[in-house]
Amino acid sequence: MTGGGDCPGLNAAIRAIARRAAADSVAVLGIRNGWLGLVENDCFELTRSAVVGILPRGGTILGTSRFNPLKDEQSIVRLKENWAMHQLSGLAVVGGIPKTIDNDICGTDFTFGFDTAVSIVTDAVDRLHSTAESHHRVMVVEVMGRHTGWIAAYGGIAGGADVILVPEHPFRISRVCDLLNTRREDGRAFSIVVVAEDAHPHGDEAFLTEAQSNAIYQHGHLGGIGEALAAEIEKCTGIQTRVTKLGYVQRGGSPTPFDRILATRFGIKAYEMIREGRWGHMAALRGTKIVMVPLDDAVCDLKRLDEEIYRVAEMFSA
Ligand code: F6P
Repeated sequence: MTGGGDCPGLNAAIRAIARRAAADSVAVLGIRNGWLGLVENDCFELTRSAVVGILPRGGTILGTSRFNPLKDEQSIVRLKENWAMHQLSGLAVVGGIPKTIDNDICGTDFTFGFDTAVSIVTDAVDRLHSTAESHHRVMVVEVMGRHTGWIAAYGGIAGGADVILVPEHPFRISRVCDLLNTRREDGRAFSIVVVAEDAHPHGDEAFLTEAQSNAIYQHGHLGGIGEALAAEIEKCTGIQTRVTKLGYVQRGGSPTPFDRILATRFGIKAYEMIREGRWGHMAALRGTKIVMVPLDDAVCDLKRLDEEIYRVAEMFSA
């Protein structure tokens, strides 16, 4: 099953599990819409032919949901009945396999989906340079990443952004404006600012109203810091400033080769862990190797942006 937000590479993981199991003549059921499918007995056999052609496709052929069966006793009862009826011997939860564009899961160096999101951000920043340069504007690009700045930092560095703002380091608006003014004085009247959706202004220079703050940082649904930041930049620099919020575009489309390969390797590892009865573990990338880590290590806390990467992003500011 695939649960939680979708991301590029889910189908590659599904395909890998189905293909690997088929090689052992083990039957696999695909459960639709995360845990909900197991409660509602909404599933189908994931034969080899059911996964033909899905490798390059975004999203998930199984569908997904954020349904949590633990919230209601009746759901658990039905889930167990369906489990027994199908005589399931194990469950691969892609979710339990680290997938997210945010790359914020502990225990793994990278999640799949992240590399695709970074290439989408990079491409967008490349494209935005044209209008920024032609119109002498500041372009603010708001990217996803939930509470971490992985996408902003990687996408910003790869796209050559002039300012990169991440949740791990609250930003001072005066410093952002100084950087943009310095660029203008040096003859570079255009700039690209990449801001992560959960980046916060530093408490010393808070410029958001309480209402703005509540709207932007709503739990579970972030978004809007780009607009507020752009207004502030325009006010303090006088440079015409525009905003692009990349939103769900970052989660869509065909996975990059890196994500296809990572998802495939995770899928195979998940199958092998099930076959060996290694329950409660997650397939993870450590260096170049796929390893298994206890789920507890994976859900401990957020994997925040690496400081070394942040310093690289800082070095190229303005
Ligand atoms: O976790 C992936 C992600 O795209 C985050 O970057 C974003 O904050 C969130 O999901 C959006 O979630 P939803 O699909 O619930 O709007």
